[in-house]
Amino acid sequence: MQTLQKSLVSAALCAMAWHANLAAQTATTETSTYEPTVGQSGKDVVWVPTPQALVDRMLEMAELTPEDRLVDLGSGDGRTVITAAKRGATARGIEFNPDMVALAKQAAKAEGVADKAKFEQADIFKSDFSEATVLTLFLLPSLNERLRPIILEMKPGTRVVSNSFTMGDWQPDESDQVNENCSAYCNAHKWIVPAKVAGTWKLGDKELVLNQRYQMLSGSLRDGTNVIPITEARLNGEAIQFTAGDQQYTGQVSGKRMEGATQDNTAWQASRE
Ligand SMILES: C[S@@+](CC[C@H](N)C(=O)[O-])C[C@H]1O[C@@H](n2cnc3c(N)ncnc32)[C@H](O)[C@@H]1O
Repeated sequence: MQTLQKSLVSAALCAMAWHANLAAQTATTETSTYEPTVGQSGKDVVWVPTPQALVDRMLEMAELTPEDRLVDLGSGDGRTVITAAKRGATARGIEFNPDMVALAKQAAKAEGVADKAKFEQADIFKSDFSEATVLTLFLLPSLNERLRPIILEMKPGTRVVSNSFTMGDWQPDESDQVNENCSAYCNAHKWIVPAKVAGTWKLGDKELVLNQRYQMLSGSLRDGTNVIPITEARLNGEAIQFTAGDQQYTGQVSGKRMEGATQDNTAWQASRE
């Protein structure tokens, strides 16, 4: 299946080869004689560069700031990492192909961001990228799904943005596309790593039971013998919201504590063992 996917992606990508070859050649003219070819094989997926217009959009979706630490998994010619560094973030690319790593390092130097844009030759499946506050990917659906359990262990609030490919049954928090200066692979999806809240919480003298599927929540609020199902319940990183009866709760999760306010500004707190 994976081989088939690689072939399919390769075939589709050939159609846009001349576009991206142009970009690749531009990236290499400064200092390197190595010229990558769009669709060239990689360890788990071929190399195809994300169109620059989509790189820009992906970083906007991630709401990247200079305080962020971005990691691009399978960084290719380094364009996402370099763009992030130019926006002031600390950025790191992990790439298996050593020629691409060298090319990306040269490009970072040429762009004057070698201090903020770092590249390392490594296998993404054997690398630690837990420091990232923003993670970018342009891999394959099957690879995204392999990475998903690792991503879900990252710090809540980490933004994950993928060129084109989804993350199995983990629905994106946001999807977008660029229409200008982009002819193929122009869609992106964003997920925000949710806090872990499943379980039973004590909310004042009530009992809040939360079931969690990624960022989506269900459950109930028990007040004595009165059990009210919760609705419109979800997480945005560590921000939680749910409705029980006519009460809308919003708040922040911090480990085994949550606190916030209802729509009429009544403070609430919850905790669990
Ligand atoms: C589709 S390209 C995306 C390049 C870049 N992220 C971008 O958006 O322009 C995927 C890249 O992942 C690299 N790659 C494939 N398998 C890898 C692995 N196991 N570890 C690290 N890099 C890998 C390939 O060499 C290729 O450069």
